[in-house]
Amino acid sequence: MKIVLIGYMGSGKSTIGKLLAKELKCRFLDLDDVLENNLGTSISELFKTKGEVFFRNKEHHFLNELLTEDSNFILSTGGGTPCYSGNMDSMLQYADAVFYLKVSIPGLIERLIPEKEHRPLIKDIANEDLPEFIGKHLFERNNFYLKANHIVECDNKSPQHIADEIIGLLG
Ligand code: S3P
Repeated sequence: MKIVLIGYMGSGKSTIGKLLAKELKCRFLDLDDVLENNLGTSISELFKTKGEVFFRNKEHHFLNELLTEDSNFILSTGGGTPCYSGNMDSMLQYADAVFYLKVSIPGLIERLIPEKEHRPLIKDIANEDLPEFIGKHLFERNNFYLKANHIVECDNKSPQHIADEIIGLLG
């Protein structure tokens, strides 16, 4: 079974993915880690030295490689993954289920401020400008996120609660 988690940065994709993998006894993969391991550099460094377009091309390449592999996994994607190069359509085509982990803008801001430095897209945005930045970003990205097979509301729920909810939705 291939399960894909999508959602904005800080929505808990990796944390919940690991819990799901443990409960479903399945391999956990994080697409950012796959890129870092294959390219031998960090995502931040990749953005800095090669730029976002290079990153998006690699992201597309490794996503497709995984989706078309004959194997089972829970895959946590990057926040932008569904929004480029037909990636969302490929996920819907090859995965058994795509879950969008939906977190409100205030919820995202609370989670992202402490770890802003590690995130190339927001590290230079002032904290007071984050609501507008994330709001605009979500306005664009929702065109892709909302195509997911399941939308999971994540505000005020523990990762375990969310993982259990997803397992329930898998039937
Ligand atoms: C990105 C999200 C990041 C990472 C890259 C770009 C985005 O992943 O892929 O910095 O475009 O939202 P996480 O969502 O896992 O932080």
